[in-house]
Parts: sequence; structure tokens; C-alpha cells
Amino acid sequence: MNFKEELEKRTCRAEQVIRKYLPAEEGFSKNLIKAMNYSMEAGGKRLRPVFLGEMYHIFGGQEELAEPFMAAIEMIHTHSLIHDDLPAIDNDEYRRGKKTTHIVFGESAAILAGDALLNYAYETALKGFSLAKNSREMERTAKALQILAEKTGIRGMLGGQSVDVENDGRPLKRELLDYIYVNKTSALIEASLMAGAVLAGAEELKEIETMGRYIGLAFQIQDDILDVTGDQEELGKSVGSDEKNHKTTYVTLEGMEKAGQEVERLTGEALELLSGFPGDKEFLRELFLFLCTRRK
Ligand code: IPE
Ligand code: IPE
Ligand code: MG
Ligand code: MG
Ligand code: MG
Repeated sequence: MNFKEELEKRTCRAEQVIRKYLPAEEGFSKNLIKAMNYSMEAGGKRLRPVFLGEMYHIFGGQEELAEPFMAAIEMIHTHSLIHDDLPAIDNDEYRRGKKTTHIVFGESAAILAGDALLNYAYETALKGFSLAKNSREMERTAKALQILAEKTGIRGMLGGQSVDVENDGRPLKRELLDYIYVNKTSALIEASLMAGAVLAGAEELKEIETMGRYIGLAFQIQDDILDVTGDQEELGKSVGSDEKNHKTTYVTLEGMEKAGQEVERLTGEALELLSGFPGDKEFLRELFLFLCTRRK
């Protein structure tokens, strides 16, 4: 398998699916919709929809049932980025190779665009019901929606973001830092892996959730590393954001070397779990390994 080619193929497909579900820029609220689409169309790695589509495939899914969910999870993620960059949160000016939404459209539009994207994500995921061909697929769609909602909310991404921001400038114990990362970052990655699998009828949800937790933790620690060692041009977003906000991160708490080792260790744990699932897992295996050494 040529990993780079396969990644390109899957990212392009995720891109097409996302664009298919973006709202048309028309009517009196056109400016809001433009602000929503601005960051959605700016790109990004599309990792969460790729995870979702791949798990659907691994567990035998062959139809379009996963598509609305691929678009929805990217909308939820993008909402989290638009709000994360706001002056009241991380106050950053670059994202996905462009000026952030609040810099281009103003703060009030960025707040509303984030809210609207989060809501539109559910409007989009609900379209899954019209693709379901029988009661079994209806049930799977409902289950995937439940996962999406729970992992985004107070016991998921938003819970993690809130504890993250309220601790800016404070020293943190490892336990609380773990809570923050498991929620602000792992939760959405868990949701993409779990929702994809559940739509195809998988039952190994506990193991998939744990695998997502490991990959999410590794992903966030690598993000912290890149905030220090990354190149703004290559990364497409502001570097030095954590230092500017006096954040405790894995890098400040454990040091750069140990942070790097932890990324590898966590990836190893995730690969171990992946090997227990059925289907062709080669691409996902390569993707997990690739993320360990990513530079963006
Ligand atoms: C950035 O996520 C936010 C974190 C959870 C660290 P990504 O690095 O996946 O951002 P995009 O989607 O590629 O822009
Ligand atoms: C944010 O973590 C994770 C989100 C839920 C958005 P960061 O604040 O480190 O993400 P970046 O570095 O701005 O992408
Ligand atoms: Mg942040
Ligand atoms: Mg940030
Ligand atoms: Mg960061």
C-alpha cells in the first residue's frame, strides 16, 4: 500500500462529502453562512471524517450512511476551532493557513458562526435517517447521533475546553491535565471512530472508545509539541499560543523528550487495540503511525 496516495484519496473523498453538505450562502443571513463556510472550506487535515469513514469501512459498511456523519463531525470540530481562537479563549489570528474567522468577520459573527455550525452539524447528521434503508440502519443512526452528542458536550469536548480555559496561567497536576486532554481532544476522535463503527453494526464500542482515547491523547501531546517546535507556515496556525496563554501542557509539565516518548507509547497502545478488530486495518495502522511524526 502506498500510504501517501491512500491518505490523499481518503482526504479528497472526505472533502467532497463535506462540501456536499455545506449550507448555501443565500438569504438575509448570508453573512453568517459565509462565516461558517469560511473555516470549513479553508481545509484542515479532515482527520475526523477520515477516521469515521475508515471505521465504517473496516466494519463492513458499504453504503452512504456514514456521509452525513463525516460532514457533521467536521462541522463540530470546526465550530470548536472557531471558538477556541476567539479573543476570550486562545486569542489566535491564524488557522488553516488563513486569518481566523473573528479577524475576518468580526467577533460577534465568529461567535454566531461557531454556534450555527454546531447546530448545523446535527441538522446534517439527522439526514442519516433518510438514507437508512431499514429499521436496523435507523437504530444505528440513532446510536451514532447519541455518541456524537455526548462526546461533544459537557462530558466531552466542551467539558474539556472549559476546564482548559479556566486553568490558563495555573500550574496543573497530571490528573487534571489528563482530564482536559481526554475531553477536549480525545472525545471527538473517540466519537468519529465509534460513530463510524456503530453505523456499520460494530459492537466492540468500549475497545474502540479506548483506542480513540489513546490516539486523541497522542494527538494533543503532538499538538503541544508543535506549538513549540512547529513552523507557522507549515502548521497553518499560530505557534507559541500555549506559552502566550501561560498554559500548562504535557511539554511544560513533563519536558519535550518525555512528551515525544508518550506520543509513541500511546500510539503503541492504540495499535494493539486496533489489531484486535476485524477487516482491513492497514491504512488506519499506517495513519496512526504517521500522526506520531506529523509536522502539521
Ligand atoms: C486542532 O485539530 C485542534 C486539536 C484538537 C489539537 P487538527 O490538528 O485536527 O486541526 P485541522 O482540522 O487539521 O485544522
Ligand atoms: C484545542 O486545543 C482543542 C479544541 C477542542 C479546539 P488547542 O487550543 O491546543 O488547539 P489549537 O492548537 O488551537 O489547534
Ligand atoms: Mg485551546
Ligand atoms: Mg488553541
Ligand atoms: Mg494547540
